Amino acid sequence: MTILGKAFAIVFYLVHAVSGESGYAQNGDLEDAESDADYSFSCYAQLEVDGSQHSLTCAFDDPDVNSTNLEFEICESLLLIDCLNFNKLPDEKYFIKTNKFLMIGKSNICVKLREEYLACKRVEIVHIVKPEAPFDLKVTYRPRANDFEVTFNTSHLQKKYVKQLMHDVAYCQEKDGNNWMHMNITNTRLTLPQRKLQSDAMYEIKVRSLPHSDYYKGFWSEWSPSYHFKTPETNSEEEMNPVLLTISVTSFISVGLLVILACALWKKRIKAIVWPSLPDHKKTLEQLCKKPEKVKF
Ligand SMILES: *[C@@H]1O[C@H](CO)[C@@H](O)[C@H](O)[C@H]1NC(C)=O
Ligand SMILES: *[C@@H]1O[C@H](CO)[C@@H](O)[C@H](O)[C@H]1NC(C)=O
Ligand SMILES: *[C@@H]1O[C@H](CO)[C@@H](O)[C@H](O)[C@H]1NC(C)=O
Repeated sequence: MTILGKAFAIVFYLVHAVSGESGYAQNGDLEDAESDADYSFSCYAQLEVDGSQHSLTCAFDDPDVNSTNLEFEICESLLLIDCLNFNKLPDEKYFIKTNKFLMIGKSNICVKLREEYLACKRVEIVHIVKPEAPFDLKVTYRPRANDFEVTFNTSHLQKKYVKQLMHDVAYCQEKDGNNWMHMNITNTRLTLPQRKLQSDAMYEIKVRSLPHSDYYKGFWSEWSPSYHFKTPETNSEEEMNPVLLTISVTSFISVGLLVILACALWKKRIKAIVWPSLPDHKKTLEQLCKKPEKVKF
């Protein structure tokens, strides 16, 4: 009992000593945040994002880190220079744009408070690549082929380094909310057979990209802007035909009836008023009026 008691006392004392050291004594709230602070961070690179310039963006994993006076620095695997400092952006991100990445070997990225290193990480720039989001996503319906042609563009077609990408094309019916269907493709064109989609429905489609080569690796890009499209009402021609047929037959008969009616009236009344005494016209008019009667099955 006394041994256990002593052990507890020692543990209690130690805990107190440690907390005292990290400043619990001064101001509870403020120091609490500081002693808990976790300076772990994540970074991604975008290569040739602006001509030959690459960018590197880092941010703390914990968005509540008080980043006042904190700096980021990258060293090693740089061209003709030892280290580079990041710029701090208003949204708490740290950013560099440079053409000094060697693209071979590992670099050291550190969080610094003046000259003190709070956290460091060794990264290979070519393994943290986040491509730029694809754009110009379009869907075209092709009635003859009974399919939809999906096309988009990516700035990576114009780049020297990260050219091979895997694209994740995701689509869903708008009323289904979040039931996304995904397809992985490596080019920027895709056909969706009409039978894979509901007819007469609104769809949303979007695409994002991932580096897809042995050398460049990394993360999914942001999603492209969404494209919305509507599928046609029916997808079989057999169903379309009876409707069309009914409409055309009805209009044909109506037109025929109108012509016959007009001729009948013409003969009885109008003819006498407009051309009271022109026998030549009578023949031509009669011919005109007979024609539709022949057509009348
Ligand atoms: C962040 O830390 C600085 C000192 O490093 C301090 O002056 C500032 O008040 C702190 N901000 C918050 C929101 O805690
Ligand atoms: C893709 O976009 C680039 C501009 O970023 C343009 O030059 C190119 O013609 C576009 N390609 C297609 C197929 O639209
Ligand atoms: C697409 O590729 C990614 C990355 O390789 C993979 O995680 C995902 O499961 C694939 N999706 C499909 C639908 O194949």
